[in-house]
Amino acid sequence: ENVKQLHRTGYHFQPPKHWINDPNGKPIQQEHDRFHGLQFFQINPDFDCFMCVNWFVRAAPMYYKGLYHLFYQYNPKGAVWGNIVWAHSVSKDLINWESLEPAIYPSKWFDNYGCWSGSATVLPNGGPVIFYTGIVDEHNSQIQNYAVPANLSDPYLRKWVKPDDNPIVNPDTSVNGSAFRDPTTAWWAEGHWKILVGSRRKHRGVAYLYKSRDFKKWVKAKHPLHSVQGTGMWECPDFFPVSLSGEKGLDPSVMGQNVKHVLKVSLDMTRYEYYTLGTYDKKKDRYFPDEGLVDGWAGLRLDYGNFYASKTFYDPSTNRRILWGWANESDAVQQDKDKGWAGIQLIPRKVWLDPSGKQLLQWPVAELEKLRGHNIQLSHQKLNQGDHVEVKVTTAAQADVDVTFSFPSLDKAEPFDPKWAKLDALDVCAQKGSKAPGGLGPFGLLTLASEKLEEFTPVFFRVFKAADKHKVLLCSDARSSSLGEGLYKPSFAGFVDVDLTDKKLSLRSLIDHSVVESFGAGGRIAITSRVYPTTAVFEKARLFVFNNGSETITVESLNAWSMNKPVMNVPVKS
Ligand code: FRU
Repeated sequence: ENVKQLHRTGYHFQPPKHWINDPNGKPIQQEHDRFHGLQFFQINPDFDCFMCVNWFVRAAPMYYKGLYHLFYQYNPKGAVWGNIVWAHSVSKDLINWESLEPAIYPSKWFDNYGCWSGSATVLPNGGPVIFYTGIVDEHNSQIQNYAVPANLSDPYLRKWVKPDDNPIVNPDTSVNGSAFRDPTTAWWAEGHWKILVGSRRKHRGVAYLYKSRDFKKWVKAKHPLHSVQGTGMWECPDFFPVSLSGEKGLDPSVMGQNVKHVLKVSLDMTRYEYYTLGTYDKKKDRYFPDEGLVDGWAGLRLDYGNFYASKTFYDPSTNRRILWGWANESDAVQQDKDKGWAGIQLIPRKVWLDPSGKQLLQWPVAELEKLRGHNIQLSHQKLNQGDHVEVKVTTAAQADVDVTFSFPSLDKAEPFDPKWAKLDALDVCAQKGSKAPGGLGPFGLLTLASEKLEEFTPVFFRVFKAADKHKVLLCSDARSSSLGEGLYKPSFAGFVDVDLTDKKLSLRSLIDHSVVESFGAGGRIAITSRVYPTTAVFEKARLFVFNNGSETITVESLNAWSMNKPVMNVPVKS
């Protein structure tokens, strides 16, 4: 079969061909004996996107007996969404992946029309359990099922069994049965296991809560954990604790004084995710977002670009909470069919609470650094207005760049137009762009650039002065990324809440042929773009630092590495 190599990623996860979406199911190994020797299963099967027009890869990760398991929504028959199974790959380091046969696929009356997203839970005394959404008819009627490994001593967990007492949850008459999916990893509180199932009631997004004493019989709680009018279907809900001190991740069942909770949902209507930080009342089983946080599509985002159906899991081997997201294609469906593939999984990110308690922080997992090869450095490089300086890394199409910029003062920051307060950051980025001269910025990187800059994806800061404080915009602007036709080229952007007293801003970008995944200000903001250059490809792609603002910028330090290819899609030997 014809699989086009152009634009395929070098180190971001992709199967050899066909469509992927949501990462599903992360089993977590429970090491503590807190639960009286019960075994927790944490499974996160996330399969979703029956409405998607484009392709996605969704993955569900889990850690079991020394291996990370990535399950993801996969179409074995083509490069568009459909025929969804749970494909399965394993890794020792989250970077090198060996492939296995699909773990879960339609085979029973309760999932004959599809095996959609879900989650894994690793039970305290042994094994993982996967919860997933089964599609039972051509109307997309949805129920929740479970699957368990056939052989717990096989660390690869090759075979999964779907017991006959499925389903575990049927929608009652108050629930919209065609909008009822994506069960979460279970947590333990007040003598019960609990899970969420995403749904909607008319236009109200809802996270239904189900409880069980024995992990078998599940009963709907009187109230949903949370719901918000006007947000539409909540796909792939994720609910987890974060520590108020330090960067360590927590098992989902950890509660108490030193803990806040995060609720993340994926909004079907906008294809964006948002999250809130808040308080979980474990007795009432209700979640209350912190005051001042926006509970809706203009709320905090894990990523201000192409990032959907994400899932976190707790990695007990390193005490981290790890976040996976899926990025669909930004080209046309026909182009995906022609390419023979669609969707990538983004690089797993460590996620933890900012010391302010007001947002999450994220950083690509440290294991990624093993792929770093040829290195180029810059330091104390001045950038005057109009300068662009090439960073001659050998594979600029497949690179990791980490840069810190400094500036002598904030005086030249342009005024923030009060009208922009009503706009999405993406519209401000569209108005100002990377080319229009500014004061403090635009400055940053020109990634996937052609020699004469007919094509480039700029990732850059612009700093504005508002009435009360400075506003820092980070843009990843795909509008200039390609001369190709029929592409979606949004000017993705977000405002970063960052302290500017040291007059520095940092940026890290993971560049990989058709994806640029960027982290601003040490992980205070992330933005992912999918782009399809026509000439800035393979060895013709270049990388520059630039400044189009009147204030001189200094590249304090810059490291750029060519990235090697990890092991990917090599079948596990039987
Ligand atoms: C999210 C989603 C889920 C669903 C799965 C189907 O992208 O729509 O809600 O379970 O994809 O593949």
